[in-house]
Amino acid sequence: MSDDAVVQHAPRDQWGTKLGFILAAAGSAIGLGNIWRYPYVVYENGGGAFLIPYFVALATAGLPILILEYGLGHRFRRGAPFTFRALSQRWEWLGWWQASVSFLIATYYVVILAWCLSFIVYSFGTQWEDNPEGTGAFFLNDYLGLADSFWSVGSIQLKVLIPLLIAWALVYFLMRRGVNKGIELAARILMPLLIVMLLVIVIRAITLDGAGTGLNTLFTPDFGALGEPAVWVAAYGQVFFSLSIAFSIMIAYSSYLPRRTDLTNTGFVVGLSNAGFEFLAAIGVFAALGFLALSQGVGVTEVVESGVGLAFVVFPQIISTLPGLNSLFGVLFFGALFFAGVTSMVSILECVVAAIREKFNLSRTAAVNWICGVAVLISLLYVTRGGLFYLDTVDHFLNQYGLVTAGLVEVILVAWILRRLGEMRSHIDGISYVRTGPWWTISLAVLTPLLLGYMTIYNLWNELQERYEDYPASGLIALGWGAAVFVIVLGVVLSLLRPQEELTVDQATRG
Ligand code: ALA
Repeated sequence: MSDDAVVQHAPRDQWGTKLGFILAAAGSAIGLGNIWRYPYVVYENGGGAFLIPYFVALATAGLPILILEYGLGHRFRRGAPFTFRALSQRWEWLGWWQASVSFLIATYYVVILAWCLSFIVYSFGTQWEDNPEGTGAFFLNDYLGLADSFWSVGSIQLKVLIPLLIAWALVYFLMRRGVNKGIELAARILMPLLIVMLLVIVIRAITLDGAGTGLNTLFTPDFGALGEPAVWVAAYGQVFFSLSIAFSIMIAYSSYLPRRTDLTNTGFVVGLSNAGFEFLAAIGVFAALGFLALSQGVGVTEVVESGVGLAFVVFPQIISTLPGLNSLFGVLFFGALFFAGVTSMVSILECVVAAIREKFNLSRTAAVNWICGVAVLISLLYVTRGGLFYLDTVDHFLNQYGLVTAGLVEVILVAWILRRLGEMRSHIDGISYVRTGPWWTISLAVLTPLLLGYMTIYNLWNELQERYEDYPASGLIALGWGAAVFVIVLGVVLSLLRPQEELTVDQATRG
């Protein structure tokens, strides 16, 4: 590649407006994690008392890392690999590690979007009632065709493949249109809609009989839980996934910002709207669970579930039991899940697109074709009969040992190995109205490394004590540990390839 060719680069993509960026960043943060993960995490980890570790995690890790990532992307104007390379050539691999985690997450996140699409259709006439054995049997047997055992891969399920291809087509379309005309436009349309939908769901849920019992179950504080390390680990884990930090997303997104942007303020707006959204979602979900429990004459603890079980087994039950307008409520719920997921999905892919484009000097079209092409092929694994087992395994290991560990390395690198925290603070404070202050430095240099370091060891220890979900060891090694190690190896290999574009100091920074 000659220097001339390098100079001919298309100008870097940019957000149209600051509001567009905020909506896109909030769209990335607000996703499946807010609606189906947060309510259960609160309930299981001390109810109302969980809000203490949650806000501590948000204040000491979530917001400081979010603002740090905004600062990194804004200053170096590159995706994560080249941002870390600009900090130190030896650390490009860290960016690729984060981008590889995102890439693998994208391959199954889209499958959940496909399930949402199917359930929007099934909501018309509550079609899950066709199976007399209940909504669990409908989802697992009729829809997923789940295999009896882990390694019975089985054939591809056409019922899931078709919505998967539709979800991919939409995501591909948005990615091809780019940052401003695709991602930002989608966020501008979907985020306001999503908020209205959530409000309608919450208002409907809290006016149902039994809602109060549901909310009491959720919020009754168990202060004893605060002494358990697992509760703190859950709070930090939730904050990482939910804020989309250490995915390399926020570095890429802020690299598209114009020169003068208030980073600290923006970080607070995004971080707090994400927290507000999940809090509201928890109220809606538990009010609806209280209603279901009352109608079945059981306690709320007997109907509560998390993740896949909550959305695709318990919610269809709730929808069927509603006194009226069931189909509409179903469309609203699965539609909200889908909209929240789409704006996160495009961000999970965009950080990979940015990274690949810069390294190999590719056009957006070429990068999107490659990334979506390979990701579509991998996503087919999750629409086989064993798909749910594989999705669950990869998700668990990438969350536990991909995101949080990569975030830990990022913080230690900037604060201690390269000692660039002061420089980043000056950059961020120089363009922000609100100054970061010692809170930011202490959180990143001391609290976060200590807490995340402890968390990683704690998680690893527990993982080795018992097999996740009792899945076979071969499955956990191949898909769980395999995925966690693969993303690091891929990161190192990609960083060793010679870049098409060498960064000069001028290119790489802006003051
Ligand atoms: N932050 C996104 C979510 O919560 C990834 O789903």
